[in-house]
Amino acid sequence: MNATEIATVKAEALAEAQGAADAAALEAVRIKWLGRSGQLPAIMKTLGTLVPDERREAGRVANELKNELTTALDERKAAFEAATARTSASAFDATLPGRWRALGSLHPITQVIERATAIFRTMGFTVATGPDIETVFNNFTALNTPESHPSRSPSDTFYLKDDQILRTQTSPVQIRVMLNQKPPIRIIAPGRCYRRDTTDATHSANFHQIEGLYVDRQVSLADLKGDVSHFAKQMMGPDVKVRFRPHFFPFTEPSVEYDFSCHVCGGKGCRVCKHSGWIEISGAGLVNPRVFEQVGIDANAWQGYAFGMGVERIAMILFGIGDIRNLYENDARFLAQFG
Ligand code: PHE
Repeated sequence: MNATEIATVKAEALAEAQGAADAAALEAVRIKWLGRSGQLPAIMKTLGTLVPDERREAGRVANELKNELTTALDERKAAFEAATARTSASAFDATLPGRWRALGSLHPITQVIERATAIFRTMGFTVATGPDIETVFNNFTALNTPESHPSRSPSDTFYLKDDQILRTQTSPVQIRVMLNQKPPIRIIAPGRCYRRDTTDATHSANFHQIEGLYVDRQVSLADLKGDVSHFAKQMMGPDVKVRFRPHFFPFTEPSVEYDFSCHVCGGKGCRVCKHSGWIEISGAGLVNPRVFEQVGIDANAWQGYAFGMGVERIAMILFGIGDIRNLYENDARFLAQFG
């Protein structure tokens, strides 16, 4: 066989290797061409009949046939083996590291509301709710807020219509509950509030409060202090201190503002508590008889206390968050720390 003839046969052999459907067919091609009594040894034997120049050229092409066919067979064999390994069960390697899947977690604000709710449940409170869009009556008038009070102005409060606002506090839920329920009453009301505040490290135009209302035959400031202090210990730990300062709210009389000692520095002073050792949580007081009048509860027969609670403030000292804006930016790297 001369060089040209061998080249033709070579193309045939390579095509057979490419066309083999599985490892067995591949092995048959190898035996047919490269086996001891196969085509290639037979071709080699014919070379002796050629003149030296032709023999050298034919020998070169025959060698090409051997090398290229061997490579083609090896490659296809490796491909078949890889495919089998992928599909066979024995390919499962228990020593490989597992696949990581990110788990979500509750937002810190949700965590605080859920924990606080659970604590107040143990103290006999049930959860009441009200809408974010409120009437001016529920948010201000029924809460004994004078017509001229600055908090009513459109520069402080978001008005949707003349008598429709985004609630500035959860206190209107007190009104809704007292209009619909006979005392004794013991409710908390977690929810969103809205104020036209310029956003900074401690203020946000949208924030959360938990309102508390307790109405019974005999309720005093001592009940308020005791219950808020008990809550604080359950929420922050036994070492927390609670401080009450005289204040004014139209819907409570007397009124206080109250602070928790800073959980981050233990009261020594740090960035989160602005180096005062205390964090202002919100206001509270005894229900003003004028509010009872608005909702038709006999102020001679009933007394009550009410408190607000800033959820973001509690989250900030509980988790050591220095900037309230972190709570609203939904940066996954920040939120992932609360899982
Ligand atoms: N609603 C008041 C505020 O947002 C807090 C408060 C609630 C005060 C209940 C007294 C009683 O500042």
